[in-house]
Amino acid sequence: MSGCLVCGGITHEVMSFGRMPLGNGFLRASDFAEEYFWNLSVVCCPRCSLVQLNDPVDKHRMFSANYAFFSSTSTRMAAHFQRLAESLRQVVPEKSFVVELGSNDGSLLQHLSTRRTRVLGVDPSTNVAAVAADRGLPTLARFFDESCARDIVAEHGHADAVVGTNVFCHVPNIGSVLEGCDLLLRRHGVVMLEDPYWGDIVDNTAYDQIYDEHAFYFTGTSVSRLASCHGFELIDVRHFDVHGGSMRYVLGKAGAHAVSDRVEGLLAREAALGLTECHTFDEFRAHTELSRARLLDVVQDLRRNGARIAGYAATSKSTTVLNYCGIGPDVLEYVSDSTPAKQRLYTPGVHIPIRSPEHFRTDAPHFALLFAWNHAAEISEKEKAFTEAGRRWITYVPRVVVAPVPVAPGHALAYS
Ligand code: TMP
Ligand code: ZN
Repeated sequence: MSGCLVCGGITHEVMSFGRMPLGNGFLRASDFAEEYFWNLSVVCCPRCSLVQLNDPVDKHRMFSANYAFFSSTSTRMAAHFQRLAESLRQVVPEKSFVVELGSNDGSLLQHLSTRRTRVLGVDPSTNVAAVAADRGLPTLARFFDESCARDIVAEHGHADAVVGTNVFCHVPNIGSVLEGCDLLLRRHGVVMLEDPYWGDIVDNTAYDQIYDEHAFYFTGTSVSRLASCHGFELIDVRHFDVHGGSMRYVLGKAGAHAVSDRVEGLLAREAALGLTECHTFDEFRAHTELSRARLLDVVQDLRRNGARIAGYAATSKSTTVLNYCGIGPDVLEYVSDSTPAKQRLYTPGVHIPIRSPEHFRTDAPHFALLFAWNHAAEISEKEKAFTEAGRRWITYVPRVVVAPVPVAPGHALAYS
């Protein structure tokens, strides 16, 4: 077992998934023979309480010229980004410079950019960065670290905020990202990061949030400790019901801002729930194994009875479920996905063909296994005809359920 990526402490194994392909490694049939696999295992550091991948995949393998994930696929996320931009405007000066890390196709950047706010996106995936640049949103196609921060300061000056949604949890070299933020920000600048919340993952047995791109699974406690190692402090937190439960953390330079009461409240709740103690996650492993057994029981039973099943949404999360449970094209005829770049490709590892939502509507299966359970309400609305035709949804978070409408977890109340 290797040491903690942040403090070097000896880690405790939470869960090992075995051999896995890349979560976003959607591929052509001609590339099957060269597909990359690695060992997916999650550990927890007793010293700094940070839950993390044991052995992260090299970042160049994940975020390349062919990165298939585009942010602007969900209308609900678009509304969330708009609100995030508004709340960021409340903590930066009227005339400001905001840098977004992992700015993808510019879905958030477009809301941040105003006549008074200069923006700059930074994203290493050249194809998505090019889409943002085409939309007139200045984007630097590179990995963010200290040297990138120095170059931005030299060209654009210091920033008032660095923002990253689903980005900080992706970078194994988080120490150098935070050092870069420190160099880039003015004294009263803030870092705003929003990532899936480990408390929700545990609570909902949402093991599918675990895949190569998520190097870290944050809690308020682990973020607070991490921030203090790099001259920052956790000054505010907010829970949101997006991406299956996310926490927004605001960091300020140590001593430069007042700290919200919400921070102390969250840290106390995490201590009471045992989220600061690695051994409590042994129960998560047991729940995950049970979830796999139940899902396999359901789909295998349906197939034995001649039912047709398709997957809905070729998410990175689906890669963990399909490969961990061993569900392949013999069980799922195809996976429907609205992203044109994914259609005609195959899912990583188990190689199920991906088809368009139009295909799903004209050649509907009897059952749809919903992988984008975090968008259940939006999808249920969009696919009303499926339900009305007497077809059924299978969901597996927080537990395996077969129902006329997709059943997804509700968690906002617990943490907001
Ligand atoms: P994520 O936002 O949970 O990572 O998943 C996004 C994937 O789900 C992306 O490939 C697009 C797909 N998707 C659909 O196919 N239909 C939908 O209605 C939504 C919201 C997403
Ligand atoms: Zn540690």
